Amino acid sequence: MKIIAINGSPRKNWNTATLLQEALEGAASQGAETTLVHLYDLSFKGCHSCFACKTKGGKSYGTCAVKDDVSLILKKIREVDGLILGSPIYFGTVSGEMKSFMERLLFSVLAYTDPPVSLFPRKIQTGFVYTMNATEEQLNTYRIERHVALNESYLKRIFGASESLLCFDTYQFDDYSKVVADRFDPEKKARRREEVFPKDCEKAFQMGVRFASKIS
Ligand SMILES: Cc1cc2nc3c(=O)[nH]c(=O)nc-3n(C[C@H](O)[C@H](O)[C@H](O)COP(=O)(O)O)c2cc1C
Repeated sequence: MKIIAINGSPRKNWNTATLLQEALEGAASQGAETTLVHLYDLSFKGCHSCFACKTKGGKSYGTCAVKDDVSLILKKIREVDGLILGSPIYFGTVSGEMKSFMERLLFSVLAYTDPPVSLFPRKIQTGFVYTMNATEEQLNTYRIERHVALNESYLKRIFGASESLLCFDTYQFDDYSKVVADRFDPEKKARRREEVFPKDCEKAFQMGVRFASKIS
C-alpha cells in the first residue's frame, strides 16, 4: 500500500507541508509506505501542448512524453494507491508550481473522447489539502470554492475518488511585527494557530488513515 503526497508550497515546514506530513503519518499508522515530494525542489514546466499523449497509436498515448523532473513523479503515481496534493492558495487558486504539475498529471490521462474518459490505469484514492489566509466566510468572496470544486471533480473523474480539506486563516509569517501586514491581527493569528491548526492537522491525519483503510 503506497501513498504519495505532493507539496505545492515553496515552504517545506509550514502549513501545507505540515498537513501533508500529518496525512502521510495517518496513512503510515495503517501500514502504508509513504513519500512526500516538494515540487519546488524539482525542475519542470507545465504541459507543453505537444499532444504526444493524444496521438493515435503513439508510444506515449495516455502518458506524458515530456522528460524532466516530473516524469519520474508521474511514473511513481501510476504505482501508488493514494495521492494527496497540497497547495497554498495564491491569488485565489493553487500555486503556480502546483498548477503546472496538475497540467502534467491530468491532461495526459484525460482522453478527448466523447464523453471524455480516464486513461489512468487504476482507481485510486485522492485528496487535496489547501491552506490560505482567507477565513471560511471569505471563501466565496474570493471565489476559491470554485477552484476547489473544479479540482475535486477532475480528480474524481480521472482517479475515481477525491476529497478536499480546507485549512483557513493560517499563520503566515515567523514574526508579524517585522512585516507590513496591518490587515492581520497577530494575536488572533497566533491563537488560531494554537487552537485550530492542531484540529486541521488531526483532520489531515484522519484523511491518511481513511485512505489507507479503504485500500487495505
Ligand atoms: C504569493 C502569495 C499569494 C497569496 N494569495 C493568497 C490568496 O489569494 N488568498 C489567501 O487566502 N491567501 C493567500 N496567500 C496566503 C497563503 O495562501 C497562506 O499563507 C498559506 O497558508 C501559505 O502556505 P504555506 O505556509 O504552506 O507556505 C498568499 C501567499 C502568497 C505568498
